[in-house]
Amino acid sequence: MTNQVKIMDVSKVSIFRDIQIDIGRALDVDLSSGDDNVCRHLDSLKMSTKGIPDLRSNSELMLTIENHILSLLSIVNIKGYKSMQFPANVRILESKRESSNTLNMSEYRTTLLHCDSWSGAPQDTLNIFLGIFVIPGAPWLQMFHTFPENHPAYSFVGPYSEAPYVESELIEVPVPVQAGTLVFWPTQTPHKTEQGLSVDGLWRISLDIRLRKANPYEDMDELNEEKFSSTKMNSLGVYWSLPDHGFKSLPEKILKEREILSHLPSVANIAREKYLEKYYD
Ligand SMILES: [Fe+2]
Repeated sequence: MTNQVKIMDVSKVSIFRDIQIDIGRALDVDLSSGDDNVCRHLDSLKMSTKGIPDLRSNSELMLTIENHILSLLSIVNIKGYKSMQFPANVRILESKRESSNTLNMSEYRTTLLHCDSWSGAPQDTLNIFLGIFVIPGAPWLQMFHTFPENHPAYSFVGPYSEAPYVESELIEVPVPVQAGTLVFWPTQTPHKTEQGLSVDGLWRISLDIRLRKANPYEDMDELNEEKFSSTKMNSLGVYWSLPDHGFKSLPEKILKEREILSHLPSVANIAREKYLEKYYD
């Protein structure tokens, strides 16, 4: 377990290379084939009728990534967690993208400084970020020291602009702008997406995923359906039991989860079945 931001370079770890290859394959480009080549390919995907694909709908890829992440967790010695988000997020961002999109004025946009707990992530979550491909000047991650437990921002929940902190108290933790940078931090850690240079065509691909210390069905008494399955990616149902091995197929993953649930109260079973019905039918 960790109570501060940790940064590691896993660019030389073979699992990192495997993740890079798998994501590249799904995007139909070799991510090690040169920056210009990759950026041109991403530009052309953006201009195509389908646009940049949402890789989270590719369940085969998501299961492969889950498997790789499990291996990576054991290599970097992250222990003590019982739940893991599924699927991971794969973000493909271009410099200038958000500044040219004046419509995104959400109170929860990631370019505002925030802790994920402020927008409702459980207090026991650990965030994991892995840089997969990046051109300097592309949008990147800006991290600061985790708030101490007695700080009012530690347990705050609400719009990012109303969070109780002052800028001068933040201490930056520089995140190297390179593929293979692995960052993990407790959810009470302030961070934001740096927009990057205001020129087009500087791309970043990254993967992020959250772990929870609790199992996905803890506190089920208080848990209502709304909290478990109101959205696919931002409800408690996005956390599944941390697998001890990877799965070959989605049915296999669902079967394993049902097996675990068979020993748990019916309220947990009902919540998971509703989540499955909504997003995996
Ligand atoms: Fe965040």
